[in-house]
Amino acid sequence: MRSSALLLPAAAALAAAAAFAAPATKAVAVLQPTQGNKVEGKVTFTAAEKGLKINVHVTGLTPGKHGFHIHEFGDCSAPDGASAGGHFNPTGDPHAAPTDEKRHAGDLGNLEANKDGVADLEYVDHKAALDGASSVLGHGVIVHANPDDLKTQPTGNAGGRVACGVVGAAKAD
Ligand code: CU
Ligand code: ZN
Repeated sequence: MRSSALLLPAAAALAAAAAFAAPATKAVAVLQPTQGNKVEGKVTFTAAEKGLKINVHVTGLTPGKHGFHIHEFGDCSAPDGASAGGHFNPTGDPHAAPTDEKRHAGDLGNLEANKDGVADLEYVDHKAALDGASSVLGHGVIVHANPDDLKTQPTGNAGGRVACGVVGAAKAD
């Protein structure tokens, strides 16, 4: 009698711990405009066989390319988005293109907006992840005013920050 009374809470605690430890398989960042901008959108991250599937829909952009990165901090509190810090770079690599082997984990390249200011992107990234050292969970997503040139250190010279969001765990499909 006494032991079963003790076992039940222990089992519940174990189940709770297992649920907490289970790696996220999906995450979402809702992008909000920084001060003076009207860029907004949504980024969905889904664990895929060969990496991290990234789906992006952003509106309110000027036509053309816009740097698109994961930044170190999940902090969009500064009006200009500066509180998100620099590019998320857990491996200490240089800034580069998403297709490069050595790059910031946060180097997702560019979005390209059409004449209506809408950018859609879907691809599988080989470095960003939802678990381990390169997990993007809790970090920031930034869309920039200008194109990322994929080489200028350490920012890609992408200019101001026009939208900011924080990557949070989402319910798996
Ligand atoms: Cu950036
Ligand atoms: Zn970078």
